[in-house]
Amino acid sequence: MEIVRNISVEDFQKLHILVGWKILKDKEIENALKNSMFVSCAVEDGQVIGMARVVGDFATHGLLCDVIVSPLFQRRGIGKAIISDISSQIQEFVDNKDEFMLELLPTKGNVEFYQKCGFKYEPNYMDGLYKWFKNKNIYGQNCKKHLMRLNSKPFDSIKNGQKNIEMRLYDEKRKLIKPNDIIIFHNKDNGERLWCRVIQLHKFDNFEQLYKNFDKKQLGYQENEASSPKDMEEYYSKEEQALYGVVGIEVKLMES
Ligand SMILES: CC(C)(COP(=O)(O)OP(=O)(O)OC[C@H]1O[C@@H](n2cnc3c(N)ncnc32)[C@H](O)[C@@H]1OP(=O)(O)O)[C@@H](O)C(=O)NCCC(=O)NCCS
Repeated sequence: MEIVRNISVEDFQKLHILVGWKILKDKEIENALKNSMFVSCAVEDGQVIGMARVVGDFATHGLLCDVIVSPLFQRRGIGKAIISDISSQIQEFVDNKDEFMLELLPTKGNVEFYQKCGFKYEPNYMDGLYKWFKNKNIYGQNCKKHLMRLNSKPFDSIKNGQKNIEMRLYDEKRKLIKPNDIIIFHNKDNGERLWCRVIQLHKFDNFEQLYKNFDKKQLGYQENEASSPKDMEEYYSKEEQALYGVVGIEVKLMES
C-alpha cells in the first residue's frame, strides 16, 4: 500500500459510492478537490482504496472530511495511515506558521477510530473532535531538522517508547546533528512520521564499543532477541566504521 497526495474525480466518486454516501456531480468534486488544503489517498496494486481531505482557511482552522476506506480493506490500518499522512502534511504547514486546529464530525461509531489517530474527544466540553498542531520549532530556536528513514521494526520501537538510541555512522551528514535538533523519522513501509528531539550524541570508534554502553532494548532489540554489533555490518562495513567512527543518537519522542 502506498499513500499519494491526490485523487481523481472518478476515484473520489467510487469511494463515496462504496460506503453509501451521497453521489456528487463531477464538477462539485473537481471544485472540492481544487479547494482542499490537503488530500491523502491510499493505493494498493494500482487501485485507490481510501482517502481523506482537509478543507480550511490556510491559516488557523481546518475540517477533516471524506475519510473513507473501501469496505473490503477496512480494519487493516489503512485509515490510520491516511490520517497519519494528513497529519504530516499539516505539521509541515504549521512549522512555517504557528498552530492549527483540525476538527471533525465523526459518523456514528467512529469516535474511537479518531481517538486512536490522536484526536481529543471531550464530550463534557464540546461535541466534535479536534487535534491541535503546534509549530515544533517553538520548542527551541535555531534547531535543525533532519529526516531519517527507518524500517517498521525500529520505527515502531521508537514510537512505543522503547528504543531511544538511533545508531549511525558518524559521517559528514551526522556531524551536522546537534543536541536539541529535531529528527523526523520516516517509516519506509507506510510513510508514517515521528518527531523526536535529539538529547545527546554518544560517539564511539565502532559499534562493538557502542553496544557495550547501552541496554539492548534501548537499541531496539526485544528482551528475547540476541543483540550483536555484527548486525550493524549489514548497513555499515567495518572499514566504514574505522574511517568515520559511529554515533548513538539519543532521542526523545516529541508530543504530537
Ligand atoms: C472509519 C474508517 C475510515 C476507519 O478506517 P480503517 O482503515 O478501517 O481503520 P484502521 O484499520 O486504520 O483503524 C485504526 C485503529 O482504529 C480502530 N478502529 C477502526 N474503526 C473503529 C471503530 N469504528 N470503532 C472502534 N475502533 C475502530 C482499529 O481497530 C485500529 O485500532 P488499533 O490501532 O488499536 O489496531 C472506515 O471504517 C470507513 O471508511 N468507514 C466508512 C466511512 C466513514 O464512516 N468514515 C468516517 C467519516 S467521519
